[in-house]
Amino acid sequence: MKILITGAAGFIGFSLSKRILDHKSNIRIYGIDSLNSYYSSKLKKKRLEILKKYKNFKFQKLDFSNKKKLDKFLNKTNIDLVVNLAAQAGVRYSLSNPEEYVYSNQLGFFNILEFCRKKKIRLIYASSSSVYGEYKKFPTKEWQSLNPKNIYSATKLGNEIFAEIYSKFYGLNITGLRFFTVYGEWGRPDMFILKYLDSANKNNKFFYYNKGNYFRDFTYIEDAIKLIEPLIYSKKNNLNKHEIFNVCSNKPIKMSSVYKKLSKLYFHKKLINKEKNNLDVYKTHGSNLKILKKSKNFKFTRFDNALIKTFDWFKNHKDLL
Ligand SMILES: NC(=O)c1ccc[n+]([C@@H]2O[C@H](COP(=O)([O-])OP(=O)(O)OC[C@H]3O[C@@H](n4cnc5c(N)ncnc54)[C@H](O)[C@@H]3O)[C@@H](O)[C@H]2O)c1
Repeated sequence: MKILITGAAGFIGFSLSKRILDHKSNIRIYGIDSLNSYYSSKLKKKRLEILKKYKNFKFQKLDFSNKKKLDKFLNKTNIDLVVNLAAQAGVRYSLSNPEEYVYSNQLGFFNILEFCRKKKIRLIYASSSSVYGEYKKFPTKEWQSLNPKNIYSATKLGNEIFAEIYSKFYGLNITGLRFFTVYGEWGRPDMFILKYLDSANKNNKFFYYNKGNYFRDFTYIEDAIKLIEPLIYSKKNNLNKHEIFNVCSNKPIKMSSVYKKLSKLYFHKKLINKEKNNLDVYKTHGSNLKILKKSKNFKFTRFDNALIKTFDWFKNHKDLL
């Protein structure tokens, strides 16, 4: 089996590629990534260095919003499945750089859809919990109405709508994954946990919004990958089917509590209190009943244990951030 993983140098793309390469000797992975400079390219290069040691991994630096270059590369391969994880991530950055989101998340995604349409290939793609927007009733379920609050989440909802239409009109099997605040080893330095640790280490300012009075459904990377594995290895190719899954732990944690745990591990001298940011929703809390049906006796990692693992990784890799 040959899988194209876009965003292979990114957090989830790297973690998924590594997991597959470690466990499935019959799968060949083609990874692409533009290696954009949204966060440390040192970290992205290190992730790639690890993946390139596997003989079943082939990498191409490529911006997938460039259709010509993407098609030229893909036409040389014989892909059976596309896992689209490349995107311009980040909610705050979308306010000042909307264009990046249109290129990568809309145009790039459209190019992937077109490739899948022409070759009749199954597609799995990353959406985001942010498509739910501000909710009052929890946990949010996949069929509920959506109300994105910012440009990033608007592009993700756009992906879902295009995916739905492509699957219906062109008979494709497409699966969307709404990830909820994924964290852990090799994680993203722009997200709360590593951002806190990195700024404490560099003695930089850390903006602490709304006294930590908001909740996130933190999902440990290893759990996220294990949850989506059955979808990736699925032999079924149900044409005309577009299905969406929340990828979450169903356990929201108050940010002030995460902050307390972090400050016990590493005290931050430059914490700056800030008012609630309008880009942030008060709470994310997804139902994971649908995706759990794909696994047997799934056991989630305890947050405290995963936080320690993340901190240990940080201590050994802080120069990469
Ligand atoms: N990490 C989370 O908590 C989270 C939550 C919700 C959704 N998601 C989604 O999951 C996916 C993976 O997220 P991540 O956390 O690994 O992010 P990431 O930023 O670490 O990885 C994304 C990768 O895509 C690459 N990329 C961006 N634009 C590209 C382009 N035009 N062409 C080729 N490559 C490009 C980047 O260089 C990066 O390496 C993204 O679609 C993201 O929006 C992540």
